[in-house]
Amino acid sequence: MESIEIKIDQLQESKPVKFTLGSEDVCVARIGDEVFAVADICSHAEASLSEGDIKDYKIECWLHGAEFDLRSGEVLTPPAFEAIETFAVVRDGDTVTISKKK
Ligand code: FES
Repeated sequence: MESIEIKIDQLQESKPVKFTLGSEDVCVARIGDEVFAVADICSHAEASLSEGDIKDYKIECWLHGAEFDLRSGEVLTPPAFEAIETFAVVRDGDTVTISKKK
C-alpha cells in the first residue's frame, strides 16, 4: 500500500503543508503533538487547502472561506457542502506515516 513518511520536524504548528501520495495531494497539519491529513483539494472549487488557515481543529479554505474539520473531513461552513477525504496517520517517534484509509 502506498504511503508517505515524513519527519515531525517538517511540520510546524498550525502551518499546513502539501505532500503527494500516489496521484493525490494531501494536506498535512500539525496541531500540538497531533497530525492530521486530509485531501488538499477543497470540495467546493478545488483550491489548495494547504494554503488555508488552521484554527482549533478546523482548516479554512483561503478562496471562499469554507471550513472543514481536520479530524473527520466534515464540512463545517459553506459554501462547500461535501466532506473531504481523510487519510490514516500513524506516528512512531519522530516519523509520521500517512496512507489511504482502508
Ligand atoms: S474553493 Fe474552497 S471554499 Fe471555494
